[in-house]
Amino acid sequence: MNNSQREKELKQKIDAEKVPRHIAIIMDGNGRWALEKGLPRQEGHRQGVETVRDIVRCANELGISILTLFAFSTENWQRPAWEVNYLMSLPEKYFQSELPELKRNNVQIRLIGDAARLPRKVRQAVEEGTEATRDNTGMILNFALNYGSRSEILRAVKLLVDDVTSGTIKGEINEKTFSSYLYTVDMPDPDLLIRTSGEKRISNFLLWQLAYSELWFTSVFWPDFSRVDLMEAVHDYQLRRRRFGKL
Ligand code: FPP
Repeated sequence: MNNSQREKELKQKIDAEKVPRHIAIIMDGNGRWALEKGLPRQEGHRQGVETVRDIVRCANELGISILTLFAFSTENWQRPAWEVNYLMSLPEKYFQSELPELKRNNVQIRLIGDAARLPRKVRQAVEEGTEATRDNTGMILNFALNYGSRSEILRAVKLLVDDVTSGTIKGEINEKTFSSYLYTVDMPDPDLLIRTSGEKRISNFLLWQLAYSELWFTSVFWPDFSRVDLMEAVHDYQLRRRRFGKL
């Protein structure tokens, strides 16, 4: 069966009423994809951006409400400077080419992560994207940039302590209160986490928010991840029974 036949089949199988509300993706394997082809690692990342474009479109068509993409972790600064610089050039390029379509498709762009440590041109590009799509009411597209879950949790604890000390918060502190101090403040937790490239790790991504998410791993490298792969993941998700600790 070729890809377009499989896509057609999956479209029929997927229940449009029960798609995951929030999908989070660890986009992994750009480097290995390039290595396998004898190309420089940058080529893997460049192709990875093409995949981002396709997957954002497909998620939007499927009616996903929130798509969160792990684009750069707090640990990724440890890569060689040439690779960090290349990765930092991608948001600007992506928004330059995609912003008109994202606006048309009613997509809202958001950033999760420590924006303060991002180079100014990245911050500006993302700010421009978030600003230009602020009034959109469709799919939320979260870019996790300079994101690390442990530092997000620590930041939340510090902000919470400040608010308790100053008396801004009174009464019980529950899970809902705590969640409101995370970058994902007004968003439901991911229903489905996808990780490409065969690795089966969470890698400091959304540790609090993934508590009850369904996990889906594929050996496909991110640059080869296709609409069909996303639809396979959504279909598989729909076959699962989520119990949230209950019977
Ligand atoms: C992991 O592959 C991927 C990254 C660290 C970067 C992911 C970024 C993109 C896919 C592009 C982001 C796009 C925008 C628009 C911001 P890896 O390099 O760790 O691969 P490897 O494990 O095979 O070496």
